[in-house]
Amino acid sequence: MATTTNYDELPYFCMARPSTHPLRLSGILNLLGIKAPPANQCRVLELGCGDGTNLFSMAIVFPETQFIGIDLSIEQINIGKSRLEQLNLKNIQLYQEDILNLKNDIGCFDYIIVHGVYSWVSEKVQNKILELCSNHLTDNGAAYISYNTRPGWNLRMTIRDMLLYHTKGFQTIPEKVSQIKSWLKLVENHVSNKLSKILPTQINYGYYRYLKNELPEFLELPESYLFHEFLEDNNTPIYFHEFIEKATQYNLVYAGDADVRFMFREFQTPEMVEMFEKLDTISKEQYVDFLENRQFHMSILCKKGIEINPKLPEKKLEEFYFSCAAITRSKNITFEEGKAVEFESAEMVFLEYSTLGKAALICLSERFPETVNFEQLLQLIQAILPENNLNKQELIKILLRFSMKGLIEAFPLPLPITLGIEEYPQISPLVRLELAEKKEQVTSLRQDTTILSNPILIHFMPYLDGKHSRNDLIDILETWAGEGKIAPPSEELDITRELLEQLLNNLLKAIGKMGYLIKS
Ligand SMILES: C[S@@+](CC[C@H](N)C(=O)[O-])C[C@H]1O[C@@H](n2cnc3c(N)ncnc32)[C@H](O)[C@@H]1O
Repeated sequence: MATTTNYDELPYFCMARPSTHPLRLSGILNLLGIKAPPANQCRVLELGCGDGTNLFSMAIVFPETQFIGIDLSIEQINIGKSRLEQLNLKNIQLYQEDILNLKNDIGCFDYIIVHGVYSWVSEKVQNKILELCSNHLTDNGAAYISYNTRPGWNLRMTIRDMLLYHTKGFQTIPEKVSQIKSWLKLVENHVSNKLSKILPTQINYGYYRYLKNELPEFLELPESYLFHEFLEDNNTPIYFHEFIEKATQYNLVYAGDADVRFMFREFQTPEMVEMFEKLDTISKEQYVDFLENRQFHMSILCKKGIEINPKLPEKKLEEFYFSCAAITRSKNITFEEGKAVEFESAEMVFLEYSTLGKAALICLSERFPETVNFEQLLQLIQAILPENNLNKQELIKILLRFSMKGLIEAFPLPLPITLGIEEYPQISPLVRLELAEKKEQVTSLRQDTTILSNPILIHFMPYLDGKHSRNDLIDILETWAGEGKIAPPSEELDITRELLEQLLNNLLKAIGKMGYLIKS
């Protein structure tokens, strides 16, 4: 009989984590010269998988990969198993088990994912996680372990201590939970008030500013997330270099960060550039943490002895599939060399000046979320720059530069996502399940979580099950139009079959852009 945990009483707000996807991990590893196992045919283990949500979308896009999820909480595993049954996914198994009790007979895995667990468990469990990675990775396999880091968590620790202190008089989890947001709101009001009355030169100004920046974000998050984030018994942030030293004791080596941008930081001052050139990878990234106050790491570890080539092999890039989530809002896009065009994504704003770079980003952005291979990209660019004599080598260098900045993603395999309008359009079964569960957030085939608010999309998407033809879908829209659920774009227009077909195409395009449509 399993012991009850806090996660049984208050299940975690589990969601898909894009950075843990074996396709992304294999892309980064390949760029680092490591021949990573192919994400579409491998074995993946997730330790502390919660209700398994992180694995569902991966299992849909790669049906031949085997996924195993382990979690201590029976409640969460049962939630996951019931969802699995509804999804009819045969390539995931979820087990309630303590990481500490996992036996050697679990076999070997190409990818071991441990997200949001390491910092919240005892040292004994942390050691066991590293031991399992050391003993159960295949030769070229990789472990992804995320953890809270100092120095970023030094200030966050104050918020944890404050919340622990504030809730110590409350015994039950619901009582403690009820206090978190109300207290944070009080603190937020207090610091807003303070900031309106003091000068930046005054003592405590920086602290108030910090709280003012952090608290609104926390107030948006689900209570279950905040409880487990701040009020669990264990929460031990460490320095990056300490984590890597510990991993080394278990014969694991650091390959890179799941957020590539941190591996290839650029520095502005010549003194800093000179100093960084002399540093090894670990020291470099530790200094970046100090300079940027990093609070969370997503380290990729491999078995000792694996060959890592920190100089990215340009030639290899021709074998990749590319994707770019950034868009440009510029009205008059110029391809003239040296003239800037602004691109923006959820994470960054970026100015590109080169003709080829701008063309590549625009082509990839238009095709997003589809993945485009090198040859296809060349053809797309040639179509918009017909006069240009395309230089392959230059394009490779540009794509490498974009990959290192995290502006584009480079995958060794395509993702089975489409923007194309198929005869029997089909969205991810996980999205259909999430809609049936009335979830506000849904999971794309790219492993992103998006908030759906458009009522027509919400009502329409369940019909995209691969069984309704385009004609059937137009019939549905026609019925809705008859019932007054859809209005024509202008009063003079009649709702004709052609207009409904256009509407269907627009809906499918919008749905495709969100990364929900499966390529058959
Ligand atoms: C913060 S949650 C993260 C869940 C999930 N990985 C995610 O990121 O959405 C931590 C998870 O670790 C699990 N956990 C904690 N200690 C464990 C142990 N000893 N064995 C297995 N799972 C454990 C908890 O039950 C919980 O689901």
